[in-house]
Amino acid sequence: MRGTVALFALLSLLLAVGCESMPGRPLESERPVRPKDVTSFDVLWDTNCQGCHGAAGTLGAARPLNDPLYLAWASDMSQRLVIQQGVAGTLMPAFSDSHGGNLTDKQVGIIIDEMRHRWAKADKFRGMTLPAYAAQLGDAGRGAQVYQEFCASCHGADGTGGKAHGSIVDPAYLALVSNQALRSSVVVGRSDLGMPGFMDAVAGKIMSAQQIADVVAWLAGHRVEFPGQPYADKEKKNG
Ligand code: HEC
Ligand code: HEC
Repeated sequence: MRGTVALFALLSLLLAVGCESMPGRPLESERPVRPKDVTSFDVLWDTNCQGCHGAAGTLGAARPLNDPLYLAWASDMSQRLVIQQGVAGTLMPAFSDSHGGNLTDKQVGIIIDEMRHRWAKADKFRGMTLPAYAAQLGDAGRGAQVYQEFCASCHGADGTGGKAHGSIVDPAYLALVSNQALRSSVVVGRSDLGMPGFMDAVAGKIMSAQQIADVVAWLAGHRVEFPGQPYADKEKKNG
């Protein structure tokens, strides 16, 4: 009887140990990780963000997120809100599983921490006063003057661009971006495309918080009710 128990125990042990090294069985490190258990920033970024914000955070259709000025300016909290909830009416999706996305809050946290860890240069901006991340729109009328002073040299007299630059007042473009994204472009620029930020638009002149709010209002003021419908007028006339 005792012998049987001992044999049984030995067999179970052999089976348990044997399983781990059975030929063809994947090692722990080779087993697929469930999407919710992925903790590697590189995997999270490449799967979820690089399609729009670019490989390594730059040169995508959407703004570069590896810009040290952007990271000094936008708090973790403001980024968290956007990543978790998306930006309604734009192409930025909601990623949080509580908002229909496929990332856990922990994964969103990993992305934010790692973007800061890899790309921020906090020392460069220490002691500098940066404008607020979010603000009310200013005055579009004053913004037209600010535009002439800080922007027209590159974007043309009326914002429709020129030989070198596309239009920044195109209704279809404005319909796809939020006011906050316009503000981000004015404050931070697009370092990947050669668009200067609020300190560098004109050499030696720093845009004030008021000037920033005013020029964003001027940009937003170019929105139209029915963007992307160039024939609306004609149809009205015909009808
Ligand atoms: C389908 C395209 C798309 C994908 C994928 C995408 N984004 Fe975005 N993202 C955008 C767009 C477009 C905006 C600007 C939205 C607006 O108009 O405010 C944006 C804005 C943002 C902003 C705020 C920028 C600002 O102005 O302050 C953050 C932060 C951000 N995205 C992070 C991420 C992260 C992190 C991921 C991956 C988890 C990601 N995005 C995936 C398109 C995308
Ligand atoms: C030194 C030239 C220069 C100046 C000055 C400049 N920009 Fe730009 N801007 C660019 C370039 C380059 C781009 C990239 C797109 C292009 O080439 O047309 C751009 C893009 C933009 C975009 C689109 C950003 C995006 O994410 O697609 C906006 C909005 C914009 N600029 C607004 C402004 C405003 C407002 C000012 C003045 C406060 C200004 N720019 C001053 C060069 C400039």
